[in-house]
Amino acid sequence: MSLTILRTAKADDIETMWRIDKECFEEEIAFTPDIFYYHLLVKSDPAFIAEKNHKVVGFVLTSHNENGAGLIVTIDVVKSARRKGVASLLIEKAENAHTKKGALLMRLQTGITNDKAIAFYNKHRYSNLGVIKNYYGQGKDAFLFEKRLNR
Ligand SMILES: CC(C)(COP(=O)(O)OP(=O)(O)OC[C@H]1O[C@@H](n2cnc3c(N)ncnc32)[C@H](O)[C@@H]1OP(=O)(O)O)[C@@H](O)C(=O)NCCC(=O)NCCS
Repeated sequence: MSLTILRTAKADDIETMWRIDKECFEEEIAFTPDIFYYHLLVKSDPAFIAEKNHKVVGFVLTSHNENGAGLIVTIDVVKSARRKGVASLLIEKAENAHTKKGALLMRLQTGITNDKAIAFYNKHRYSNLGVIKNYYGQGKDAFLFEKRLNR
């Protein structure tokens, strides 16, 4: 069994994060590289990489809203490393980072048909606040999830 190492994401990771995101999502939804540049290099938002055997197996990219709530922009794990607790480690790291910055809440959106992500956020005690119509484009709705952080 190999250990999962977590570390802060850096500029050198952007290409890998973009590649993994393209593997995880269909083309219309996957991020373009400028999203990663903006969050990591312009905003210095918290983002963390998970590695196993020196290979990147997942990441979490976060931000915050104008009220200071932490936002999960995305959390992606490569197929071969799923269901082994990698995303759970990443989301805990992200929640801790935002708690330290004074956030009271974490929020995120996920597609209403993304059953894996919905099960994942339920497991991590996120509450479903309802549907955002056409969030990912015409006819592609999202659920808004929220979790109160323990301080
Ligand atoms: C959603 C995702 C990040 C989960 O990553 P992961 O590393 O496999 O998650 P974990 O192993 O930490 O899973 C923790 C819990 O989430 C739930 N879960 C995760 N994947 C699941 C699946 N395929 N089916 C049902 N429940 C699932 C389970 O409750 C699981 O606990 P268990 O394994 O003890 O039953 C991963 O499937 C992924 O990268 N999907 C594509 C990208 C994506 O949709 N990201 C969400 C963006 S909003």
